[in-house]
Amino acid sequence: MREPPSTVQAIYDKSAPSWVRHEPTILSDFTARPPTLDFCGNVTGKRVLDLGCGEGYCARQLKERGAASVFGIDISPEMIERAQIQERQSPLGIQYQAGSATDLKALKTESFDLAVAVFLFNYLSIDEMLCVMQEVHRLLIVGGDFIFVVPHPMLAFTHRQSAPFYFDSESQGYFSGRDHAFTGKIWRRDGIALDVRSFHKVFSDYFTALKTAGFTAMPELQELTVTPELLELDSSFFEPVVDIPLHLLMRVTRSS
Ligand SMILES: C[S@@+](CC[C@H](N)C(=O)[O-])C[C@H]1O[C@@H](n2cnc3c(N)ncnc32)[C@H](O)[C@@H]1O
Repeated sequence: MREPPSTVQAIYDKSAPSWVRHEPTILSDFTARPPTLDFCGNVTGKRVLDLGCGEGYCARQLKERGAASVFGIDISPEMIERAQIQERQSPLGIQYQAGSATDLKALKTESFDLAVAVFLFNYLSIDEMLCVMQEVHRLLIVGGDFIFVVPHPMLAFTHRQSAPFYFDSESQGYFSGRDHAFTGKIWRRDGIALDVRSFHKVFSDYFTALKTAGFTAMPELQELTVTPELLELDSSFFEPVVDIPLHLLMRVTRSS
């Protein structure tokens, strides 16, 4: 008999120890997070909101790059506990809270200069993503940036189910699979595989939700894959996904 699907919180509570890291470890630490953090530009003095912050890998880097404050929220109490342990061991002044990014009403309007969501939206339905984007629009100052990265919409359809990263489209099509939860795995360079999930969305789902949420400026977009430098670093790890669309990175500014 097939087991009932685990909740997102259960997945991350269980795998929290394997997510803790102090240097690039997981495939996406090489292929997605460096360009995502670079997209944030100069964060000196900025008040940053990190949605789905996990154990704080990006929150710490944003604070170390000069952010005035970082507030991280994550649905997994275990991930937040791991973030807080690291905060106690090496204090950076980051504030963490366990909770859902779909419920941000306690946060003050226009109280952030920058919001990031690093692999959060793949855990949310299209409607939930819209709800978060509407809240991000409210929480950002005019001129503030929202940066998010998600699995590339084509990944499940262009890469077989194998290391170092895949999602199983479970016979769903590119369009018919919208809002279906695809299960998958992403590998660390030491060979440990982590369970991940993606509520499949197509490009227009992101653009439509941003516009509906009030982001009317044109978003900037990058489609991320393995770079020649990464291949040189570890060809056996990165080679299976060379030329495969891995992640979609977007930056949009609140213009009014
Ligand atoms: C792939 S991990 C990424 C964690 C972190 N952003 C990073 O880059 O290391 C996705 C995170 O999203 C969190 N998450 C999923 N759904 C959430 C929700 N509704 N609200 C807040 N966090 C959520 C999970 O608990 C998990 O920690």
